[in-house]
Amino acid sequence: MPQVKVLSKRYDEPDAHTLEGYTRLDGWKAMKRAFAQDPAVLREVVKDSGLRGRGGAGFPTGLKWSFVPQDTGKPVYLVVNADESEPGTFKDRELMERDPFQLIEGIICSAYALNSPRSFIFIRGEYLFPGIRLEEALAEAYANNYLGEDIQGSGFSHHITLHYGSGAYICGEETALLEALEGRRGQPRLRPPFPAVAGLYACPTVINNVESIAAAGHIIEHGANWWKQWGPERSPGTKLFCVSGEVARPGNYEFPMGTSCREIVEEACGGMLPGRNLKFWAPGGSSTPLLTDEHFDIPMDFDSIAEAGSLMGTGAMMMYSDKTSVVEATLNWIRFYEHESCGKCTPCREGNFWVGQILERMLDGRGRPEDIDTLDELADNIFGRSFCALADGATSPVKSSIKYFRDEYEYLIQRGRLPDHITPHAGAITDNAQSNRPKMMVGVGHV
Ligand SMILES: Cc1cc2nc3c(=O)[nH]c(=O)nc-3n(C[C@H](O)[C@H](O)[C@H](O)COP(=O)(O)O)c2cc1C
Ligand code: SF4
Repeated sequence: MPQVKVLSKRYDEPDAHTLEGYTRLDGWKAMKRAFAQDPAVLREVVKDSGLRGRGGAGFPTGLKWSFVPQDTGKPVYLVVNADESEPGTFKDRELMERDPFQLIEGIICSAYALNSPRSFIFIRGEYLFPGIRLEEALAEAYANNYLGEDIQGSGFSHHITLHYGSGAYICGEETALLEALEGRRGQPRLRPPFPAVAGLYACPTVINNVESIAAAGHIIEHGANWWKQWGPERSPGTKLFCVSGEVARPGNYEFPMGTSCREIVEEACGGMLPGRNLKFWAPGGSSTPLLTDEHFDIPMDFDSIAEAGSLMGTGAMMMYSDKTSVVEATLNWIRFYEHESCGKCTPCREGNFWVGQILERMLDGRGRPEDIDTLDELADNIFGRSFCALADGATSPVKSSIKYFRDEYEYLIQRGRLPDHITPHAGAITDNAQSNRPKMMVGVGHV
């Protein structure tokens, strides 16, 4: 399937990030269309479109909006999740950098549909340039009455607050995000109550990903059937796929849902790097179970990926070749999860630490025959026994790498080194004598 540019259509226009450029390039049509309709009708349009959230879980956006009570007397808040810390995911960054008004217009349309007077963009603290682009766009929007009171004489008023996170992956989890927005330590909240009923400041709150809200604007402009022209019935629309790893041209590419992984990699990315063949890949970021070269042709949509045993996640395709060690890659990811665990639950806090220690010991050439089963068991004791999905996600690379590449683990344990065709990455080692990997902990925690 060829690329289709809906969300990325203005990416190559040098002034798309300015109000003048955005207005010239078809901007504000969605907003005008929204203001001409009843908010309840717009909520139905988004529901009918079948748009599924682009932040990872794929929950239908219109259905989420329908859970928000409209008659509580409290304000409805819209929170845009721009935390984007899932390894491999960089689509929201580009959306905000290259076309910030598209997001602002999507917010105005969504907020109008939800009768929301104020929204919050929670942006990853490290996203300085996208933040600057958004700040500039917000200032221009306010100065020209695209935000504020009585927007363009419509009678609808809306304010956007841009809030910088402080660089914690867990703050992307929606309830931890709300805690952080309210000024507390970012740790997930117990549900129920769900944010739709009691979210930010105990008010009804909708939390959506940047790409979801940007897409909602287009759906409100063009209608549900227009969105459904792309993709299979249960995964309609286009999607920004962020492809990284050992491909010739990594980047964000927009394709209809259901386009195969092979088509995206070969057509848009120029294939794998010269001389490298696909070995394993994560279809939706590091928290989604790994797939192999046997899955190269699966369609990139929620159901097809689930049938193949993984998850669509954020659509972040991380591609690895036969020169890469899956054990090393897994350790790399586990170090991330270990570092980012908020510490609230023992299985997540301690379990990921021990998984990392065992993987590291193996790569140092000191693996034990029972290690593979211990890793598998540890992952089982983390999955489903912790408070939030961070812990479940952390088990994905462990379980799936053992499922598909048990022989590589066995080789490492038996020979104390990686197979010769694998090129160890910086900081990686093939035998104990060469070990230069920094130890996380010496003494009590070191196995
Ligand atoms: C550990 C963790 C991190 C997350 N990080 C993000 C994130 O950075 N951006 C995001 O949109 N969703 C993230 N999510 C998912 C959100 O909790 C939530 O499902 C999403 O923002 C809902 O938006 P959507 O329905 O538009 O996908 C994360 C979830 C978890 C468990
Ligand atoms: S699973 Fe991990 S990140 Fe989530 S609440 Fe528990 S300790 Fe925190």
